[in-house]
Amino acid sequence: MDGNGRWARKQNQNRTQGHLEGLKTAKRIVKAASDMGIAYLTLYAFSTENWKRAAEEVGFIMGLVKRYLIEEMDFYRQNGIRIRHAGDFPGLPEDIGQEIQKALEDTKDFTGLQVILALNYGGRDEICRAVRRMAREPKFSGEAAAVTEDLISQYLDNPDIPDPDLIIRTAGELRTSNFLLWEAAYSEYYISDILWPDWTEEDLRLAISDFQKRERRFGGVIK
Ligand code: FPP
Repeated sequence: MDGNGRWARKQNQNRTQGHLEGLKTAKRIVKAASDMGIAYLTLYAFSTENWKRAAEEVGFIMGLVKRYLIEEMDFYRQNGIRIRHAGDFPGLPEDIGQEIQKALEDTKDFTGLQVILALNYGGRDEICRAVRRMAREPKFSGEAAAVTEDLISQYLDNPDIPDPDLIIRTAGELRTSNFLLWEAAYSEYYISDILWPDWTEEDLRLAISDFQKRERRFGGVIK
């Protein structure tokens, strides 16, 4: 969800205003994805590297996430939206952790769109944590051959969630920025120059129709 800061600068406002506007966009896109029948939508809201930002900005983003989780409960219920989390949970501020836990619990039986909040998330960190979880299992000690791609996938944050088909990056950035490094092996990328606060349902439709024209070979050849 890149471009909040640039959007704010263009409006002569401070960065926090950009994140506030970014939250409105997130709500718009979650509704659109739910209406379109999309099964999973991951929002990269805060990375393991974003703690380097000014304390004021970090605090503001965390406050927005908390507000989002609390204020949107009726909306999740009405739309059957299930909330999930990806990232280092113990590293989150306690109040945010509690709010996430509550949202996970309150929405666990909903069968519509699953919104995965990537918060305190880093792709390398996720792989490290998965390997650490595996290393703690006595059944794998010394069993190097047991380590397969499928096994590692089972130790990631949300093993039941399929790898993403499409990864959208806004504001013209051309990096992965540590997002879903393992899961993105064969994802299709879509780069939009539009700043995240300006993103609309129509932009999501354009991204999906572009994706639908891609030929996915997963390393193989088309017969
Ligand atoms: C990246 O833009 C954006 C972030 C690091 C924060 C994203 C957070 C939100 C949109 C609010 C919370 C969202 C949810 C779904 C609860 P940037 O600040 O790096 O922008 P810039 O590259 O233009 O400076």
